[in-house]
Amino acid sequence: MGLKMASATKYSMVMQILSLILCLLTLSCSAFTSKDYADALAKSILFYEGQRSGKLPSSQRLTWRGDSGLSDGSSYHVDLVGGYYDAGDNVKFGLPMAFTTTLLAWSVIEFGNSMPSQIGNARAAIRWSTDYLLKAATATPGTLYVQVGDPNMDHKCWERPEDMDTPRNVYKVSKQNPGSDVAAETAAALAAASIVFKDSDPSYSTKLLQTAMKVFDFADSYRGSYSDSLSSVVCPFYCSYSGYHDELLWGASWIHRASNNASYLAYIQSNGQTMGADDDDYSFSWDDKRAGTKVLLSKDFLEKNTEEFQLYKRHSDNYICSLIPGTSSFQAQYTPGGLFYKGSESNLQYVTSTAFLLLTYAKYLSSNGGSASCGTSTVTAERLISLAKKQVDYILGDNPAKMSYMVGFGDKYPQHVHHRGSSLPSVRTHPDHIACSNGFQYLYSASPNPNVLVGAILGGPNNRDSFADDRNNYQQSEPATYINAPFVGALAFFSAN
Ligand SMILES: *[C@@H]1O[C@H](CO)[C@@H](O)[C@H](O)[C@H]1NC(C)=O
Repeated sequence: MGLKMASATKYSMVMQILSLILCLLTLSCSAFTSKDYADALAKSILFYEGQRSGKLPSSQRLTWRGDSGLSDGSSYHVDLVGGYYDAGDNVKFGLPMAFTTTLLAWSVIEFGNSMPSQIGNARAAIRWSTDYLLKAATATPGTLYVQVGDPNMDHKCWERPEDMDTPRNVYKVSKQNPGSDVAAETAAALAAASIVFKDSDPSYSTKLLQTAMKVFDFADSYRGSYSDSLSSVVCPFYCSYSGYHDELLWGASWIHRASNNASYLAYIQSNGQTMGADDDDYSFSWDDKRAGTKVLLSKDFLEKNTEEFQLYKRHSDNYICSLIPGTSSFQAQYTPGGLFYKGSESNLQYVTSTAFLLLTYAKYLSSNGGSASCGTSTVTAERLISLAKKQVDYILGDNPAKMSYMVGFGDKYPQHVHHRGSSLPSVRTHPDHIACSNGFQYLYSASPNPNVLVGAILGGPNNRDSFADDRNNYQQSEPATYINAPFVGALAFFSAN
């Protein structure tokens, strides 16, 4: 054991010296090796096991978690067991869950070839969600179940999911109370996942795609925002601020990508302009899908030179240029330490989604010999990759605070994660029930979280690169499934390049 350690240390010293020499010679200095990225990749997927709701399988690796929400849906006589808690609480919110699934699937679609040792775990993370979304979409005809748990009641408690005794109300959208936003995002998730399972499980893939088409038809035929009928339980949490047009175009684009069916192409062509194709909009999040849709659709133009998609290449360029300092259309904000900065609440969600779009667009461009045009200057795929790398490295610890914002990665990472299950004692070590208000002592405690939520990326630092490792500061210290999802693809890329 002693000997092994010594030679491992010697090996890593030699590697460090070699990489320093390489860095001096080529001026391409990197804080991380592909092994580091591979380690972060494995952790970024493992995180989803900490967010699982339902009956945990024997393959569960985050063993401090137990079964929870086993009667979700029963009061409505439907089975809504499973799926993910969105963040640090115990609510299953449909809109962010579906968006998370779409981006996990997109990560695998673009960069799955770069994650040979993690592809099984990545598929399992997607399936945990799609099994739930299929139930939510098919349990009652003409209905999509979009949420389990009353967030206002849930937030009055600090309870482990395994102890949860707050109302598990079920919320749905229907023809009378439509929700084209949440329904079209669900369609996008199912369609994207159908591509992921095409070879590994063809019949599951077919079921996903067929359900996606039905859910999309429902979203499109009965138009409206779920925030209208469900305002008291989805706002301000996951209120659909950007409306539902962006999700309709995004959903149609994913079904088009998954099926190549001409009716969706026709839909995109006739509705694109009115559904946001022409807006220059620079954020990509669980709420706003416009930038992502443009990048997704630009692939068709770049590959097949299909005229009708030229618009999407142009607007993708505009989006990309907005991120590149020194170009005429630059308008993003960066912290002094170089982090893309969009807002004080869960800022890293924008960083991970931006890094993913940069890499995906770089991939589309470079496989077709293209580049982005920013006014009179040309921006190459390499430039996009290096900007994405800067963001990824910052998150992993190459930043002024020398802090990794991925829990369990590196030497220094946040200890006071705003997450009920992670901050309360595990049901394994403390099986007795901890009631609603008795849990708050753990929220306010100065002790580190007893259960490490490995792989979680948190909200992250402020616009001056500073971060308070404070459990009650949820804007900075809360994880969320949609922060991690696009990061899975980005890490896969860097683990192989
Ligand atoms: C294409 O999609 C439309 C609308 O969902 C559907 O009616 C049609 O059957 C699909 N065509 C094929 C070949 O799958």
